[in-house]
Amino acid sequence: MVDVDEFIDEATAEIEAQIGDERAIIALSGGVDSSVAATLAYEAIGDKLTPIYIDTGLMRKGETEQIAATFSFMESLQIIDARDRFFEALEGVTDPEEKRSVIGEGFIREFEREAKELDATYLVQGTIYPDRIESEGGIKSHHNVGGLPEIVDFEGIVEPVRDLYKDEVREVARKLGLEEIISERMPFPGPGLAVRVLGEVTPEKVAVAREACHVVEDELADHDPWQAFAAVIGKGTGVKGDNRVHGWIVSVRSVESRDGMTARAQELPWDVLQRIQSRITGTNDNVARVVYDVTHKPPATIEYE
Ligand code: XMP
Repeated sequence: MVDVDEFIDEATAEIEAQIGDERAIIALSGGVDSSVAATLAYEAIGDKLTPIYIDTGLMRKGETEQIAATFSFMESLQIIDARDRFFEALEGVTDPEEKRSVIGEGFIREFEREAKELDATYLVQGTIYPDRIESEGGIKSHHNVGGLPEIVDFEGIVEPVRDLYKDEVREVARKLGLEEIISERMPFPGPGLAVRVLGEVTPEKVAVAREACHVVEDELADHDPWQAFAAVIGKGTGVKGDNRVHGWIVSVRSVESRDGMTARAQELPWDVLQRIQSRITGTNDNVARVVYDVTHKPPATIEYE
């Protein structure tokens, strides 16, 4: 990206040219990528854009409320409660790529339904450069690239930030005047907490991951990780009172990176790790143990699935 102002001018002109007099919808996810894509598209075509936020039940703590507040200036904003539909579709699904595909398909079906009602023929997406590279390289499908069903009932898909790296998207976000909570927010995967619970996605596991992710984000806010979160990685034995219990094992991950393509596990002070452990086990009796992941990428990926 040469110059931020130039990029914004060119991107909005391109969106306007592509969509013309048609109507478009954009999937807001709460992350910086889709927020920037939505803001650019809103500047380009105004009310002809309907931003849609799908509450999949796989989002971060407080995310739905925050989206509603941040984008309330876009009058056409729609918030859809699809939690039951997503959990039902994910029942019995354990393979990570199948999860992505089920979720990608779920997203697109929700949008298609809304698009039909709104008579929208274009879908705007916040796909960024590393998403495309990793999907094209066959490393992992990203729900907003590789996991989409083949037959998508839209005339066109518009991806205004497709050539940008994450740090460039943040630069554009600041220039567009988006709040810090959006512009500086750490990345969150499209399939959400579904890829932060190993194996089958159940409301119980997701609730454990959501609370643990919140604790990690909160405790590490001053340590400036590129991405930090927690995942439910299995079950193990612990003691609660006088009893042995079979509880969840939560793994905490905090990494430094530029673009997510490679990453280094962050060195954190012992007292910070202990505080995270005690908050996670303290708020949930069903968590038996908390571990810290010291693996870089490669050989590990950032997420667990
Ligand atoms: P990995 O785990 O592949 O993650 O090292 C690299 C970056 O991508 C995010 N990620 C995803 N983002 N859909 C997304 O939109 C996905 O399926 C997905 N999987 C991983 C991950 O959070 C990290 O920032």
